[in-house]
Amino acid sequence: MGTINGSIKLRLAHVGKRFDAAGRAATVAVDDFTLDVAQGEFLVIVGPSGCGKTTVLNMLAGLDRPSAGSVTLDGREITRPGPARGVMFQDYALFPWQNVRGNVGFGLKHGPAGAGLASDARARRVQDCIDLVGLNGAEDKYPHQLSGGMRQRVALARLMANEPEVLLMDEPLAALDAQTRLILQDELLRIWGQDRAQSSRRTVVFITHAIDEAVFLADRVAVMTTRPGRLKALIDVPLARPRNDATRASAEFQALSQHIWSLIRDEAYRATVT
Ligand SMILES: Nc1ncnc2c1ncn2[C@@H]1O[C@H](COP(=O)(O)OP(=O)(O)O)[C@@H](O)[C@H]1O
Ligand SMILES: [Mg+2]
Repeated sequence: MGTINGSIKLRLAHVGKRFDAAGRAATVAVDDFTLDVAQGEFLVIVGPSGCGKTTVLNMLAGLDRPSAGSVTLDGREITRPGPARGVMFQDYALFPWQNVRGNVGFGLKHGPAGAGLASDARARRVQDCIDLVGLNGAEDKYPHQLSGGMRQRVALARLMANEPEVLLMDEPLAALDAQTRLILQDELLRIWGQDRAQSSRRTVVFITHAIDEAVFLADRVAVMTTRPGRLKALIDVPLARPRNDATRASAEFQALSQHIWSLIRDEAYRATVT
C-alpha cells in the first residue's frame, strides 16, 4: 500500500519539529515523519485536530524549519518560501481593499511569479484564472461582497495565477458549508486537471480533517497520529478519474472511507481526551 508512481517531487525524511517554550516542556508537534510525494500526485494528509498537519505544511512551504530531518523539493533543501510552491489557507487571506482582479493579480504584480511579464500578458493571465475558477463577471467585486465559496475561488485563482509547481493547501474548504464544499471539491479536481496525464499535473499536498474529502480528492491518503504527529498509514485511493458524484456513491468509495475512519477513530478519540 502507499506505492509511489513517478519521480519524487517532495520528500520529508525523518522530519521532527519541536516548539520550545520558556519555562515549559517543549511541544513535539511532529516526530520522525517520512513521506515522499510524486510529481503530479494529489496527496492528502488527514489527522485529528492538533496532530501536526499545519506544521508539516509550513515546513513544506518553507515558512518553518524542521528541528530534525530534511524537507526537499526536487532534491534541494527547502529553507524559505519560493515561487515553485503556492500556499492556500482556510481563512481566505484576501486583501479586503483589493477587488477580485487585484487579489488574483497581486502575486504577479508584487511577487517573483510575474517578473518579466508585460502588463498585458499579466492582465490576460489574471483574466484566464478568473475564468478558470468561474468568477467571470465578478472581477470588480470586493471580498466583503462575496460568499465564502466565492472567496475561496478567488484564493484559488490567485494561487493558479502564480503557476506554482506545487500547491500546498491547508484545509482550504473547512470553513465552507457542506454543499459548497462538495462543489468546490469537484472544481478543484477540474482545475487541477484530473483528466490530464500525471506528468502534466501540478503536485498537490492537501490537508483536511474530513475523510470523505480526502478519499474523493486523493491519489494517496496519509493518516497522521495524534501528537506527536507521526505517519500512521499511507492508503492508495485507486478510484478512477475523472471523479464525480457517481464516485461518491460507489461502494469502493464508502469502503475506503470506512477503512480510513477505522484507522483514525482511536486517534481522534485520544485527541478529544488529552
Ligand atoms: N508556533 C507554535 N508554538 C508552539 N506550539 C505550536 C506552534 N505551532 C503549533 N504548535 C503546536 O503543535 C501541535 C500541532 O499543531 P498544528 O500543526 O497546528 O496541528 P493541526 O494543523 O494538525 O491541527 C499543537 O499541539 C500546537 O499547539
Ligand atoms: Mg491545522
